[in-house]
Parts: sequence; structure tokens; C-alpha cells
Amino acid sequence: MNRTCLAVILAAGDSTRMKSSMSKVLHPVAGLPMIGHVMKAVASAGISDVALVLGRDAETVAKAAHTDEVNVRSFIQTQRLGTGHAVLSARDAIAAGFDDILVTYGDAPLVTAASFAAARAELAKGADVVVIGFHTGTPTGYGRLLVENGELIAIREEKDATDEERKVTWCNSGIMAINGRKALEILDKIDNKNVKGEYYLTDLVEIVRRDGGRAVAVDAPEAELAGCNNRAELAVLERLWQERRRHEIMLSGVSMIAPETVFLAYDTQIGQDALIEPNVVFGPGVTVEGGAVIHAFSHLEGAHVSAGATVGPFARLRPGANLAVGSKVGNFCEVKKAEIGEGAKVNHLTYIGDAIVGAHSNIGAGTITCNYDGINKHVTQIGANAFIGSNSSLVAPVSIGDGAYVASGSVVTQDVPADALALGRARQETKPGRATIIRDRALALKAAKKAKD
Ligand code: UD1
Ligand code: CA
Repeated sequence: MNRTCLAVILAAGDSTRMKSSMSKVLHPVAGLPMIGHVMKAVASAGISDVALVLGRDAETVAKAAHTDEVNVRSFIQTQRLGTGHAVLSARDAIAAGFDDILVTYGDAPLVTAASFAAARAELAKGADVVVIGFHTGTPTGYGRLLVENGELIAIREEKDATDEERKVTWCNSGIMAINGRKALEILDKIDNKNVKGEYYLTDLVEIVRRDGGRAVAVDAPEAELAGCNNRAELAVLERLWQERRRHEIMLSGVSMIAPETVFLAYDTQIGQDALIEPNVVFGPGVTVEGGAVIHAFSHLEGAHVSAGATVGPFARLRPGANLAVGSKVGNFCEVKKAEIGEGAKVNHLTYIGDAIVGAHSNIGAGTITCNYDGINKHVTQIGANAFIGSNSSLVAPVSIGDGAYVASGSVVTQDVPADALALGRARQETKPGRATIIRDRALALKAAKKAKD
């Protein structure tokens, strides 16, 4: 589409019902503030300009909305006088002159580029106002779309509707596209003569018709238009988002045994033929390459898992964990800011932090990289083909050379050269018969106690 477009995002609400110390649009869905989701939809629709209409937390919201792809200007709506008034807060941006003005809400994060495109397509065909509507079994609270002979004639707000009009189940989502060349002229005609005493954006439908223009409604799925007024609705948005994204990811060739138990972040990327077992949680910043397996109950955040690598069950990958091809991080292991080399194995009960583990090295059960001295973090370097015996503590900064062995139970405080064996533990002493003496002494003590009682 080569028409220019300004998206006006309304986000000046007080968010009273969220009962929150921050603006509603900053609350995350899939790890990204709601306003960020709206911005992503705007950007992927190829819209170049955004006017944000803000109230509380204006600076923080503007920051959360920032993206390099879109030119964003903020406008403060000092008084909440209604959606029509809110759009006019962005008067300067609208006056710059765009073919299309698209109004959308900051608290409706599931909206897609396709819906924006559908609304704008009607403008291109000559409509002056396009409303995105949805059919719902629970219309209470929404503006109703009133249609006569297939034409949209008005939007009636719940409070202003007659009993008959309230029975209508086709509702206004709030998303509206307006002919940009007429926008200011018609927006300025909105008044506040209604039950709520607000400037209703929805009045535009009747206004353009009065002027001989055309208003149109297009349909979109209800699940895409859901908004958020309180925490319960926030949880519903999260569920809807997760369902949609899991479905997309599965259709792209990823297997999930119990998709309803897998939680994705807004930016989770998973390659074809990867398998995600039940109860896996992805925080932001995770990429999983094709053919990798994430076993049950693992938690990943800011991590990269290469092709053919396996994670878990019960593994935690924290930011900066980078697993090379065919590597393995097993049960009850935590990996943070560490490279796990090709084919390397970190199998059981281990913490690897601030470390580099070379290709094909084996890290024994219970190994800990002691990366923190209470003040600073230090790096542990392990070469290729090294073998770290179980229950070793590698006190960083320290390096273990290629092919070196560390004996089980060692506390390694000095560098170990390539192909060396490091023993960092007390030598074993064995005393023949000593166990019998200790046991007999304990039994005698127990017998004496019993005799006394
Ligand atoms: C609005 C629509 C209604 C639609 C519903 C969909 C109007 C008059 N009504 O009703 O037809 O079915 O949305 O959810 O448009 N806002 C501001 N400044 C204001 C007023 C609102 O920024 O002065 C923002 C709010 O933060 C919110 C959005 O605009 O994001 C909608 O406002 P709200 O008061 O919730 O409108 P509704 O009464 O729900
Ligand atoms: Ca609302």
C-alpha cells in the first residue's frame, strides 16, 4: 500500500481498575508491555508514523513504545474527556497530512497488522470512516454497530442505547480508520452531548454520513480485539496470546507434546523439528535451533540452543547461556553467561556461570564454577576434551587446559595445563578394623542408656 498512514494510539487512561502503580499499557503480555505489542503490529503493518496519546507515566510509556522502525511522537492528554478528545490531542501530528489515520488502543495488544490493513483497504476504496467490529455473545459495555440496508449508520454507546439497540451483538472494537484528508474537519465536529458528557470518537460515523460521506464496518475475530481493564482480563490476554503463538510455532514445524503447558515469550524463536516437552517456560530472548530438544520443566531466558542440543529435564538456562551444536545440559543444572562447546556435556546438578566449556568436554555431576567472590564475577575457562570429575569446585578465575583431568571432589584454585591431572583434595586414609571399634562403642553407649531408664 503506498498510502501514507499515521496510527494514533490511545493510552491516556488512568488504569484505575488495574489497581496498579503503573500505567496499564506497561503491563506485560508474554514479557512485552502491551504498548510494545501494539507497536509491533503497527510496524509490521508498514505504518511509518505513530502519535501516542498519553496520560500517566507518559515518559515510561513513550520509552516502552520506542522502536527504530517507526517515527513516534508523544502527546499528553491532560484531561480525559473521551476518545474523540483523545485523538484530537494529537492534532499536530494529524495536521501534518496523511492519507490514512488509524486509531487504536494501547490496551488491546492482540491486534494484528492484517486488521489494520483490512480497515485501510476500505479507505482506499473510498470510505471516510472504517470501524473494526466483532461479533460477541457478551456485548455489554461496548458500542453497538447499527446497520441499515447493509450500511453502517451509527455506533451507539451502551449508556446511550435503547433496549432494542442493546440487543445488537455486533460491537465496536475501538479500532477505526479515518480519511486523513478530512480527519481534522470531521473530528472537530464531535461534541459531548451524550449521557457521559464525553467527546465520543464513535460519533464520526454519523458525522460523515451527514456530510454525505461513507462509513463502513469490517469484521475481525473477537480474540484479536480483546482489551484489558483489570488483572483477570490481563490473564485472559496472556492466554489468548499464548494460544495463538503456540499454534503458529507448531505450524512452523515445532513439536509440542502438551502445548497448553508451554509458555513462550514475545520473541521466542524455535526452529523446525525442535521438540518442546511439557511445562517449559521461555523468558525473553531465547532462540532454539532446529532439532534441539527441550525436556520437561525447563526454564530458559536470554539463551541460545543450537541444533541437536538437549536441555533438561529441570534445567535452567539464564541470560548468556549459549549451547553449541549437539551439546547437553541435563537435569538440575543451571547455566548462566557461558558457552557450552560442541558436543560438551553438563549432565547433572551443576552450576556453570561466567564460563567457557570447550568442545566435547564432560562436566561431572555436582560441579560448580565458583564465579563470584562476593564483589566481582570471574571467568572459568575449560578447554576441549577436558574431564571434570564429579563434585569439583572450580574457583574462578581459573583455566583448565585441553584434555586435562580434574579429580572428583577437587577444589581447583590454580590453572591446570593441557593434558594434566589436577587433584585438589585431601589424600584418602584407610584404617583397617576401625569401623568395628566405633560401632561397638556406639552400641555399648546405647545399651547403658537403656539400662538407666
Ligand atoms: C470505547 C468505544 C466503544 C467501544 C469500546 C471498545 C467510544 C466513545 N467508545 O468505549 O464504542 O466498543 O471502546 O473497547 O469511543 N482514552 C483516552 N482518553 C480519553 C478516553 C479514552 O486515552 O479521554 C483511551 C483509554 O485509555 C482506552 C481507550 O481510549 O485505551 C478507550 O477508552 P474507554 O474509556 O475505555 O472507552 P469505552 O467506554 O470502553
Ligand atoms: Ca474500555
